[in-house]
Amino acid sequence: MPVSSQPLTGGESENWWKESVFYQIYMPSFQDSDGNGISDFTGMTSRLDYLQSLGIKGIWLTPFLKSPKVDNGYDVAGYTEIDPVYGTPDDFKNFLNEAHRRDIKVIMDMVVNHTSTESRWFQESRKSRDQPYRDYYIWRDQPNNWESFFGGKAWEYDSLTAQYYYHKFDVRMADLNWSNPRVVEEIQNVLRYWLELGVDGFRMDVINFLTTDGILSDNPVKDGSQQHIYDIDQPGVMEAMRVIKATVNEYDNRFVVGEIGSDKLEILSQYQSPELMDVVFNFNFGSIPEFSAERIFNELQSMEKRMPGYPTLFFGSHDMPRLIDRLADGDPGRAKALAALMLTAKGVPFIYYGEETGMQNIVAETMNEMVDIQGKTHYQLALAAGKTPMEALSEANRHNRDKSRSPMQWDGSVHAGFTTGKPWIKIHDNYLKVNLEQSLAFTGSITNTYKALITLRNKEKTLQVGSYENLELKDAQIQFTRVYKDDQITVIINFGNDSTIVLPAGSEVLMGNPALKTNDFLIFRHSSGTKR
Ligand code: GLC
Repeated sequence: MPVSSQPLTGGESENWWKESVFYQIYMPSFQDSDGNGISDFTGMTSRLDYLQSLGIKGIWLTPFLKSPKVDNGYDVAGYTEIDPVYGTPDDFKNFLNEAHRRDIKVIMDMVVNHTSTESRWFQESRKSRDQPYRDYYIWRDQPNNWESFFGGKAWEYDSLTAQYYYHKFDVRMADLNWSNPRVVEEIQNVLRYWLELGVDGFRMDVINFLTTDGILSDNPVKDGSQQHIYDIDQPGVMEAMRVIKATVNEYDNRFVVGEIGSDKLEILSQYQSPELMDVVFNFNFGSIPEFSAERIFNELQSMEKRMPGYPTLFFGSHDMPRLIDRLADGDPGRAKALAALMLTAKGVPFIYYGEETGMQNIVAETMNEMVDIQGKTHYQLALAAGKTPMEALSEANRHNRDKSRSPMQWDGSVHAGFTTGKPWIKIHDNYLKVNLEQSLAFTGSITNTYKALITLRNKEKTLQVGSYENLELKDAQIQFTRVYKDDQITVIINFGNDSTIVLPAGSEVLMGNPALKTNDFLIFRHSSGTKR
């Protein structure tokens, strides 16, 4: 079946992404079809009916390009090749077509800060100092003090040419040299290749880490930790983003979300615009380490006050522990309340697969079970610092991102969705407490709550694009009214004690009940003309 790069359905707006709930699929963990223990496009295609029934309108796929998978695909070795473990190019095209047929858009995770050292570009680059690909990467006679994000030094000595190359992440993930115009052109062509094929946009991986201005000064060190003054947010990053976005804009109705590694809202805001990134992830909100109604409210309010444009809303991803463990202490009630917030507040919601069933963290009981490169790196660093293997394991588990990467728990069977083989990652039976089949069968379950909230959001333009009025925190209740034209919808999420809301005359309850217990929520429409 040919893949169309044309707009999909009639009447769609160029800002379709404002109206969409996204769903992130961690590629190896969704649905296997060939028994190799790794999810694939054929398996994933068979689950599209479920995703359609959930009501999501966009899918973010983590990387599926050819890769040795040191970092599960974030180490790309071939920018236009589908990794064979995920299927053939036709399997991908079929997935894309079938998603489009169900009115679901698909965005790709695009990693352009670095490539795998197995990529042809790097293999050529390392051969000699004067060959054409040398400047695709960053080579120096002497390293500076920059550190790898995964821990340890960011420089590796290569004896073949007696120089060091720069790697912001693992030593097998070499940073591209964005000050080389040929690299920029290559990446533009990669983007065009996938846009031509019909993908609806990109999630640009660590996009403010691009080395656009070469290697600058040493980073200052404060209280023993390095301040990332020179290695990230280099002056040329904005221009690189402009080129990326202009390339995407050669095609109609595409969308770009930027992963920005920064906790400073002024930095995040500077990258969010129609000419740069349509939206950016704000980890101050998304990766709050533990529950606090006040902190969540404050972050929501800061985004409203200090970040022009449209925010993103998420509480989970493949890089952080699962929502239910991190923010809800295992309590489905609180998980549902957080879902209500995420799906009714102003912004583009991103659900992390399995979050809608309350899937929990997994723990590696031995180092052999750990796959994540960040966890493994911290294990080695802990050993090198003199820790015992047990201490090093617990240190590794603190950094281990496998926690939230376990296979989608479709039903109560062990290794559900991976029936003909064991999944790529070890799960222990005690972690299989929840599953989709069970959750769907019970009214008021997490899954059915997500479904009802998404259905409501899809129906109500006000919840999609409405502005805020009265965003406030009162007695641990987060409250806001979304306003669009003359419609007003108020949302009250109660993280405090029981209380009863007196509804304005003529209001229509859209979801919930005015008698609010802890973690209950209420969504109601004002009768026209009344204010909260
Ligand atoms: C992003 C990804 C993360 C990956 C890193 C390097 O932060 O989300 O999983 O390890 O980039 O590509």
